[in-house]
Amino acid sequence: MKKPLVVTVTGAAGEIGYAITPRIAFGAMLGEDQPVILKLLEIPRAMAALEAVEKELFDCAFPLLQEVVITDDPAEAFRDCDAALLIGSRPRGPGMERSDLLEANAPIFVEQGRALNDHASRDVKVLIVGNPANTNALIASSNAPDIPVIQFSAMTRLDHNRAVAQLAHKAGVSAGEISKVIIWGNHSSTQVVDVHHAEIGGRPALDVLDVEWIQKDLIPTVQHRGAEIIKLRGRSSAASAANAAVYCMRDWFGSTSPDDWVSMALASGGQYGADEGLFYSMPVIVDNGTPRVVEGLELSDSCHQFLQLTLDELRSERDAVRKFL
Ligand code: NAD
Ligand code: LMR
Repeated sequence: MKKPLVVTVTGAAGEIGYAITPRIAFGAMLGEDQPVILKLLEIPRAMAALEAVEKELFDCAFPLLQEVVITDDPAEAFRDCDAALLIGSRPRGPGMERSDLLEANAPIFVEQGRALNDHASRDVKVLIVGNPANTNALIASSNAPDIPVIQFSAMTRLDHNRAVAQLAHKAGVSAGEISKVIIWGNHSSTQVVDVHHAEIGGRPALDVLDVEWIQKDLIPTVQHRGAEIIKLRGRSSAASAANAAVYCMRDWFGSTSPDDWVSMALASGGQYGADEGLFYSMPVIVDNGTPRVVEGLELSDSCHQFLQLTLDELRSERDAVRKFL
């Protein structure tokens, strides 16, 4: 029997929290032979709802679930954690941009960065889901100076999966046939959806699909999918967001498929013109728990132009939260 891993989920009584906790406890994220201890963090007024989550997890009788801790104390929630999913924060409503959440959510990531720094395992992997995810990751990691920045990532896997699903549907193949999609930059409507290197069943996607469909349909659909879901549901995506977090962590704790990569927003080391330190989504290969940005890819002219927009947006978000860094 493997030693259990401690997984902390913040905002665990929220929409994404409710969708993700049973999947982690089942073994979808860290493996079906990996016992887990779940530490669930909420704010005081959501503790009754969190107690219900705890009881439902108990009632599932998951063989891998060794313990569930519920708390409103970040120190207790992050103590010795190996994986942290920073979900708890305010979601946007209809008509809002994700960056409108900066002021409301920034203090949460200051507090949680500090608690991670003081209490988490030194090897912890931290995935920031709460929006605006890239800049919240910058805030959390800046407040956790003793944890290497490579152990923080902002989630752009949902955008990546959305693009994969659209390509598969259009080509009439399964999602497993799609590889080498890239989401660059910010998890926002300025994200750059890049299929220049993408393959469908091993063939270049640009040979299989119509360029006009890619530009006029695929790209805007993926860029605005979050808003589309909010308009229809009145609340932001939850099941697909939870699934993306599971996929991202599963790959990050293991290895990406050979001949493919995933999109992750990591602190830039200056690759592809992004300012050092900005959390910037790029193609990433993971080898046995160690992520590495795929470097040296050629970018199309249109890509260059759009990368500047998403970079400028990330710079202005960083400038707006300087006091939290
Ligand atoms: P939700 O409102 O249903 O749940 C959020 C939960 O967080 C609530 O239960 C709330 O009590 C809790 N919370 C608030 N402050 C907290 C704190 N300081 N500590 C712990 N918990 C706290 O929202 P949701 O639908 O679960 O979405 C959560 C976040 O994820 C939002 O910011 C949303 O925009 C974001 N999101 C990101 C992606 C992505 O792809 N990166 C996708 C979907 C949603
Ligand atoms: C999403 O992409 O679905 C989330 O970031 C939620 C949102 O605000 O769009």
